Amino acid sequence: MTPLLEAPLQTALRPIHIGNVYIETPLTLAPMAGQTNHAFRTVCREMGDCGLVCTELISSQAIHYKSKKTWHMFDWTEAERPFAVQLFGSDPAMMAEAAKLVADHGADIVDINMGCWVPKVVKKGGGAALLGDICTATMVVEAVVRAVDVPVTVKVRSGLDPEHITAIEFAKAAEQSGVKAIAVHGRTASQGFTGKANWDIIRQVKDAVSIPVIGNGDVKNAEDAAQMLAETGCDGVMIGRAALGYPWLFHEIAHEIRTGEKLPAPSASKRAAIAIRHAQLSVESSTIGERQTIYELRGQLTKYHLGVPGAAAVREKLVFAETLADVEAILTPYL
Ligand SMILES: Cc1cc2nc3c(=O)[nH]c(=O)nc-3n(C[C@H](O)[C@H](O)[C@H](O)COP(=O)(O)O)c2cc1C
Repeated sequence: MTPLLEAPLQTALRPIHIGNVYIETPLTLAPMAGQTNHAFRTVCREMGDCGLVCTELISSQAIHYKSKKTWHMFDWTEAERPFAVQLFGSDPAMMAEAAKLVADHGADIVDINMGCWVPKVVKKGGGAALLGDICTATMVVEAVVRAVDVPVTVKVRSGLDPEHITAIEFAKAAEQSGVKAIAVHGRTASQGFTGKANWDIIRQVKDAVSIPVIGNGDVKNAEDAAQMLAETGCDGVMIGRAALGYPWLFHEIAHEIRTGEKLPAPSASKRAAIAIRHAQLSVESSTIGERQTIYELRGQLTKYHLGVPGAAAVREKLVFAETLADVEAILTPYL
């Protein structure tokens, strides 16, 4: 079978170091609000070759005010290591305090969100709003770097809008402030999820800094990942939406890039088994009760496409699941 990359590029999936954290396979799970909780992060790690996982964004302000809901996001376990905890906020002192707290609670890496464009984050000056204010952004980064011993990373979008492409300038400033890696989503904040990610910005960031650069945006398979690595020279690839309901993706991509061989898609039985495992882990680690956990999980469970006749009916049933026993009863016939 033909390798995806020319011979010299086949080593493109080499391990990386983010500060003192060793990442065996540089394919990472993107932070996704409401999705990348303990259960999903664990499942991604268990399926192999997901080199680094990240929590969803956590508000530094909510940590400061000890919001009970936010404490529920401190749900990480040893099995996930190495893992990053993503924080957002624009107050340097509050961000430093939150960073220290999550590092003391075991985070391997503290990641700063500079890409989230949802109003509740941007209105308070956090997330993508920082992309328009390099002064505050630098103060936040410096305060966080000073506060913790673990490596600090930053996740940015390419800029605020097409007229303000700031990722390159930000990456340089972040490196100077002591950031150990930067993830670049090749869309502007104003784009939301529309249009295509511009990978050329990732290449420009890679050319501008010496810390590892993780490319992100629209990677759905090994061809995309290989193309991103080859076109941009990035050190790692971060994957978000395509991994939802498909935690096998990291191993499939790594295997295909390393060997040129495409792995067969997982069987319906494997998909059902992992969907059940995902639900079990969610309930086991839940602090909000089984029913609420299953309600919140329904969307994720329906993303495990079984790919067999009757799969649509399974999804319709999962939408009404209320307990773990319901989920198991719906999926067990496919094991
Ligand atoms: C449901 C959802 C939630 C997200 N939440 C976050 C988040 O909490 N923090 C963050 O930096 N990016 C967040 N993102 C953006 C992703 O991390 C990623 O940058 C984006 O989805 C592009 O990558 P993809 O094309 O591989 O999905 C989110 C994306 C989605 C789809």
